[in-house]
Amino acid sequence: MGKKVTIKTLQSMRGQDKIVMITAYDALFASLFDEYVDVILVGDSLNMSFAGQPDTLSATMDQMIYHTKAVGVGAKKSFLLFDMPFGSYTNNDMALSNAVRVYQETKADAIKVEGGKEKVDMIRFLSDNSIAVFGHIGLKPQSARGEGGYNVKGKTKDEKQSIIEDALALESAGAVALIIEGVKSDVAAAVTSAVNIPIIGIGAGNDVDGQVLVWSDMLGFFEEFTPKFVKRFIDGSGLVRNAIKEYSSEVKSGEFPNEQFRY
Ligand code: KIV
Repeated sequence: MGKKVTIKTLQSMRGQDKIVMITAYDALFASLFDEYVDVILVGDSLNMSFAGQPDTLSATMDQMIYHTKAVGVGAKKSFLLFDMPFGSYTNNDMALSNAVRVYQETKADAIKVEGGKEKVDMIRFLSDNSIAVFGHIGLKPQSARGEGGYNVKGKTKDEKQSIIEDALALESAGAVALIIEGVKSDVAAAVTSAVNIPIIGIGAGNDVDGQVLVWSDMLGFFEEFTPKFVKRFIDGSGLVRNAIKEYSSEVKSGEFPNEQFRY
């Protein structure tokens, strides 16, 4: 097992070595991923790909804590990032009491909150209270319902400028790193050169410090829709379907369990 990845490790990788981040929701997959990634994110995307909901909004603190505890068992050396669910950080006191709960009940190294300039006070407050915070800018899935959909950001000059300002504001408030999602590549590149903290992209091109993908997307299990930026590295659902079909037909025919699988 490699050395435990800390925020210092991630900061030292900036401009030297790409940061690899993936989501995980349980101990089994976290232990499979741990050797090959730097950061494991327990994302509220679990509400869609794990719980089958149409968006991330109904994920709760209790659910996120349950999954983060499980992931913490499998993730021995990766940096462990907790995604604060919708409604769990609507004011400073609520954000701090939920973040304290995360640190007390799980092995998470940091929390992630969605938002730009409007979150500056809250991020400063959390940082002043010893909580390490990742920001999440650009396309913010927790805002998608209110905005009427998942729209690529940074298409106009003003939008690009506003995203750069978000990044600078969050950095000065004490954010230790940022996720930038669903933006034109030139926007992510401009953000990366404007700040001094690691920038991890998802659907944001390659001129960033690292990449994150949702595990069930990149392993080809989530079939509802595939965003343009997702590469399916294996056909997970196809493999599972074939295996379960074979199991079913072998049980029906009596071929399984044969001598080899009997006591
Ligand atoms: O919830 C999640 O998985 C995320 C990633 C898309 C970055 O926030």
